[in-house]
Amino acid sequence: MKKIYMNNAATTWPKPRETAEAVYSFMLEDGANAARGSSSARDLKSLDILLTARMKAAKLFGGWEKANPKYVTLTMNITHSLNIVIKGFVKPGMRVVTSSMEHNSVVRPLRELQSEGVELEIIQCSLRGYLSPRSLEEAITTKKTDLVVISHCSNVCGSVQPLAEVAECCARHGVPLVVDCAQTAGLLPLTARELELSALCFTGHKGLMGPQGTGGIVWKPEFAEAVSPFITGGTGSRSHEETQPELMPDKFEAGTPNLPGIAGLDAAFDWLETTGIENIHAKEEKLGRLLEEKLKAIDGLRLLGSTGGEAPRLPVYAFNIDGIDNGELAFALSDRWGIESRPGLHCSPLAHRTLGTFPQGALRLSPGYFTTEEEIEMTAQAIKEASDRK
Ligand code: ALA
Repeated sequence: MKKIYMNNAATTWPKPRETAEAVYSFMLEDGANAARGSSSARDLKSLDILLTARMKAAKLFGGWEKANPKYVTLTMNITHSLNIVIKGFVKPGMRVVTSSMEHNSVVRPLRELQSEGVELEIIQCSLRGYLSPRSLEEAITTKKTDLVVISHCSNVCGSVQPLAEVAECCARHGVPLVVDCAQTAGLLPLTARELELSALCFTGHKGLMGPQGTGGIVWKPEFAEAVSPFITGGTGSRSHEETQPELMPDKFEAGTPNLPGIAGLDAAFDWLETTGIENIHAKEEKLGRLLEEKLKAIDGLRLLGSTGGEAPRLPVYAFNIDGIDNGELAFALSDRWGIESRPGLHCSPLAHRTLGTFPQGALRLSPGYFTTEEEIEMTAQAIKEASDRK
């Protein structure tokens, strides 16, 4: 049976051949640790991969200080990035504002800090999953706020938040802004410096087309200075010291990095540049419009989020069909038609509460750059058949 992959919001697949080849070649031909050898050609190659991946991330995300690669931290994933930033900055007694559309990678660290004496305000988003900049302004001006953490796009219903207005509001009131770009990195243009972001957190395995186990942070330099390291240990630098070095990027990168993964991410950045993120976005948007149109034509199917182009969104479509359990539907799609999707709560219980789909969740379909129009048609047809059989 042909496989149809409709779960690109969980991880993009397939990856570009260049990504896979770079991982393979690192493991077979390069493979040295970084800054933990004898300066052989292989040792230098590992340092080179780290540096070029940092430079490409800084360039893509409009890094601070002329895209200085020092202010790019390479991590294992965006949950790791967000934990470094949030737990390293927030102290008991501080106040943090976030939205009701966040993923658990934001919510869980914040709830943990709340139990340790941090004040947390969660702004209620609309039923379609959008944050109102006016509510944000009210939340950060009624009480002194130390940090705002907002995800750029919902992993449940694809709502894209008004980031320029959010960033302008935070900058005007001098509140550091951290953005979770899990769903938008590699798809929407982002400029950390223009938006004055304190930290832009990204994952490597979604829109950036890199391997799993990669991610990062693009820092505003003075904010990086105010954050304590979350993980401490060997950095291959200042080995005579028993305390974590303050120098960047080592401050936040203790332990051997995921070098095969970073080699793949480095190659994926080149693939993105050659392909063009605007072309990738345009193609995915077209596929999304087709999917939306087909889903809307199915009786009893209720789509979450904005439809009909009324508000900015990415092609992440979640829905329920009256009388069908979304988990059972996901199983049937996979079992009978080879269609891979994601049912349930998508690690985002708060977002589902906002959208009115907690605790049952919803079935999510997310086409990607390598999806074809024929696959969209086949998916919609399969859902229609499953729905007719109920
Ligand atoms: N956060 C990812 C998802 O939405 C893994 O599926």
